[in-house]
Amino acid sequence: MQIAMINDKMMELSEVGPEYMDRGTFFGDGVYEVLRSYNGRIFAFDEHIERFANSLEAIEIPVLSGVEGTGVDIKQIRAKVQTCFDKAGIADAKIYFHITRGSGPRDHSPGKDLKPNFFLTISELKQEPKLKTEGVSVSIYPDIRWKRCDIKSLNLLANVMAKSDATKKGCWEAIFYDDNGLITEGSSSAFFAITGDKLQTSELSTHILPSITRKFVIRAARNIGLKIVEESLTAVQARTAAELFLGVTTRDIIPVVRFDGQLIANGSPGRWTKALNEEFRKFTA
Ligand code: PDD
Repeated sequence: MQIAMINDKMMELSEVGPEYMDRGTFFGDGVYEVLRSYNGRIFAFDEHIERFANSLEAIEIPVLSGVEGTGVDIKQIRAKVQTCFDKAGIADAKIYFHITRGSGPRDHSPGKDLKPNFFLTISELKQEPKLKTEGVSVSIYPDIRWKRCDIKSLNLLANVMAKSDATKKGCWEAIFYDDNGLITEGSSSAFFAITGDKLQTSELSTHILPSITRKFVIRAARNIGLKIVEESLTAVQARTAAELFLGVTTRDIIPVVRFDGQLIANGSPGRWTKALNEEFRKFTA
């Protein structure tokens, strides 16, 4: 007899539902996406779907390449997301979905017969205008993550620890710095600094997620005449920057007014950040 227990209930292992035997739960063996809609339209849908396919491929969950064969059908995933979004009828929605490698007895080796599991939620994005008008404080945290942060993996323990540390310090976000003191990104956001007419953010690499917001922020920055420097900055440089802000799908641009206890400029969102926010609205209208 093989036994399992879920909270206080004991049962035969064979009676346990596949949702408990998911490799996503055992190993974080899966990848995810977060999208949002503005006023009834999903923003940057193609970009998110493309990044999702890249994440699947990176962890070798097969993706259907033609019309035949097996693997995750990306076109079908896109259609499912659209159908659920239409059904939800939420104008400003947060869309979360993931795929895990599948369910089965806990074994590090995935084996051959796994069927990927799909999970999705759509919820209303709470409006928090003060985030943009007043800005947020951020703390710093050592980047103790793995070496493939470019994959949008379900393994987010270090990110959770960093965010929890930030919350304890009364901050909205934690900014990761690596062993050389260089900033990589936020625990769930991209990080940007402005000095003079220069916008600086970490270069794309395996150390950061290829943020979709980052891509549009760079486009908006070019449009308003900022020069782009894709190069990590140190925490010391961040402290003395004229303006700092975060980029994340759910909130797009969020000004940072306090960095690791240090007030940035006069403690209110800077003029370039405001101009970027306005320029960004042209993409989401
Ligand atoms: N996080 N870096 C990390 C580590 C992130 O988790 C995120 C987003 C970003 C910003 O990426 P994008 O612009 O594509 O949202 C950067 C999502 C929203 C999350 O995990 O909930």
